[in-house]
Amino acid sequence: MKIAIISDIHANLQALEAVFKQIEKRGVDMIACLGDLVGYGSQPNEVIELIRKNADFVVMGNHDASVVGKLDYSYHYEAAKNALDWTKKIITEDNYNWLNQLPHSRKFKDIGFSHGSPITPEQFDYVYTIDHAFSLVDEYEKLPHINFIGHSHLIKGYSFSKIMVDEISLPRRGFRAQSKYLFSVGSVGQPRDGNPLAAFLIYDSDNEEVIMERVLYDITEAADRIVKAGLSPNFAKRLSLGI
Ligand SMILES: [Fe+2]
Repeated sequence: MKIAIISDIHANLQALEAVFKQIEKRGVDMIACLGDLVGYGSQPNEVIELIRKNADFVVMGNHDASVVGKLDYSYHYEAAKNALDWTKKIITEDNYNWLNQLPHSRKFKDIGFSHGSPITPEQFDYVYTIDHAFSLVDEYEKLPHINFIGHSHLIKGYSFSKIMVDEISLPRRGFRAQSKYLFSVGSVGQPRDGNPLAAFLIYDSDNEEVIMERVLYDITEAADRIVKAGLSPNFAKRLSLGI
């Protein structure tokens, strides 16, 4: 079985459309979306509607939670706050209600899906350093065999034993039954690893592998729309830099 795992679209419709085209080419059995459909970008309704149509399941991200009033975002910097206020204003009632009912995590067989760190997904903790990952060693027994998370906009992999954690590189082939694994899937709509191409992962359970995908999309169009919507030009600029 092949599962495409996408995350952190951030209202970037051009990136999402390109990613769905690539997923179609690859031929997957399931599409999982790890949240942050909104925030930063200019087309939250279009992104939500496309995800509702194509994803098999979706979990809530911190930006989604902020827009529906489940997370205090007053501590965010001004431009990010403004983008969330703007999103709240233009989002349709139907899309708001749909965002509002998203779960914080999902499990399918022995695979876990969440936006932030998997044991307490409602806290939206980051996992993108070995120190962050080390905090999960104590939770070994509670972790599903394979975990996919979003939130950091970075592609990362970690393997856990009962007493330690190692960083692992992608693509990854082969999973030991006695180890547990966590993969951070990168971002469709706002990559932050210095590579502006839209990112996502594909998990293939038959071949026991996790591969990464990078997809070129119309960055200029996405950036122009951000500026035209009156959102921070900085959100537009960072798309072409991948930061
Ligand atoms: Fe995000």
